[in-house]
Amino acid sequence: MLDWWRDAVVYQVYPRSFADASGDGVGDLQGVRGKLGYLSDLGVDAIWLSPFYTSPLADGGYDVADYRDVDPRFGTLADFDALVADAHALGIRVIVDIVPNHTSSAHPWFRDGLRERYIFRDEPNDWQSIFGGPAWTQVSDGQWYLHLFDPSQPDLNWDNPDVRAEFRDILRFWLDRGVDGFRIDVAHGMVKAAGLPSVGTASSVEMLDDADVPYFDQDGVHDIYREWRPILDSYPGGRMAVAEAWVASPERLARYIGPDELHQAFNFEFMMASYGAKSFRDVIDKSLAEARVVGAPTTWVLSNHDKPRHVTRHGSLARARAATLLMLALPGSAYLYNGEELGLPEVLDLPDELREDPAFLRTGESRDGCRVPLPWTRDLGWTNPWLPIPASWGELSVEAQEGDPGSTLEFYRAALRLRRGLSGDEVTWLDSPKDVLAMRRGITVVMNTGETPVPIDGQVLLASGPLGADGSLPPDTTVWLVTGE
Ligand code: NOJ
Repeated sequence: MLDWWRDAVVYQVYPRSFADASGDGVGDLQGVRGKLGYLSDLGVDAIWLSPFYTSPLADGGYDVADYRDVDPRFGTLADFDALVADAHALGIRVIVDIVPNHTSSAHPWFRDGLRERYIFRDEPNDWQSIFGGPAWTQVSDGQWYLHLFDPSQPDLNWDNPDVRAEFRDILRFWLDRGVDGFRIDVAHGMVKAAGLPSVGTASSVEMLDDADVPYFDQDGVHDIYREWRPILDSYPGGRMAVAEAWVASPERLARYIGPDELHQAFNFEFMMASYGAKSFRDVIDKSLAEARVVGAPTTWVLSNHDKPRHVTRHGSLARARAATLLMLALPGSAYLYNGEELGLPEVLDLPDELREDPAFLRTGESRDGCRVPLPWTRDLGWTNPWLPIPASWGELSVEAQEGDPGSTLEFYRAALRLRRGLSGDEVTWLDSPKDVLAMRRGITVVMNTGETPVPIDGQVLLASGPLGADGSLPPDTTVWLVTGE
């Protein structure tokens, strides 16, 4: 199926934290390979591997030093090939992350002083880094280079034809190895407004910002995707690309999607929405409207490696499961983040000295709490994990949850199995009390975000938590129903 991605469930693997086959405390590709049976049982259609390329890991691998090799901590190219072969044998597609906005400062181009491939100037402008502080760092001869992220992530100069040729070749390298798609990091970056105009503010920037800024969402970025799309289309089997593009409006996002550009873009609105019937309904309506403008089904995300896990964000496991069951009923594709199927919370009490997120030092905010390694067994299953795993996670481990019908893991498995029976691009809202969402998409979905139980009518397919003794839907619970009509 060439457009397999339209309603796919894609499971994001953060390789460093997923599974460790070598026993060195850092997850690796053989670890992922060893868990493919687990992922197949879970029922995912594809995995998206966050970067595993050669890297100093200054930004968890989003600082790439060699785009055509595997960091020794994650394994080898042979491991990668074996992983793809095994995944494909199980019917699981493989998406890899591509990081074209910046390289690592350990990349040979930067090390060798190929300044024309980066953005060097005699004077900095007023741009701020997403990770806090100025977006410019001075080198020994007095020049400054641009880094929208960490100083160890110099921005590439996409006006340079060598940069463009290099990335076309990198795409082919991984397509030749059988990957089914790419997740494009900072897909709205890369091209900067001519002359690098000042923004006129010293305040730091957010990724999701309505501001019209000269370093994001520039028209020229679309030329790059028009160069890339024929490459993807020249390979058989439905190769795709999904953009991480934080842009101001559905109309701007729509420009990234289409037969001559990319297949999908992440819709982060659902992830950013506060918990509640009205907030979720508004976002769903907006997202579906956006999908109509874009001409491709939307994507849904509740957690990833950049935001606090949704158990913690929404305040409880019950709420997280309710939100998940709502998400999985919606048309489009769903991106899951490793560990959410175990109901893992954000780890809030990591000692500061163990935090590795480069943003932490500059902003005090850290994404490490959602990157803690996954517990596989009651004794956690890791030797010296790169971030400490809370001992209490033994009870959240796969071993502890497997076979327990009330567990979050079995809940995800059941939801993904039933989801295969859903179809249709639209949802119909049904009348419901305030704090309750009710919609139909073949099945009927009811979510209670209020404080009192509500009656429901129909045959229960799956509920995100126990129903009341009288069959009512308790607070913070979602149910899938087969109803008369
Ligand atoms: C977005 C990635 O998801 C994030 O983890 C990374 O820090 C930035 N892009 C920079 O590459």
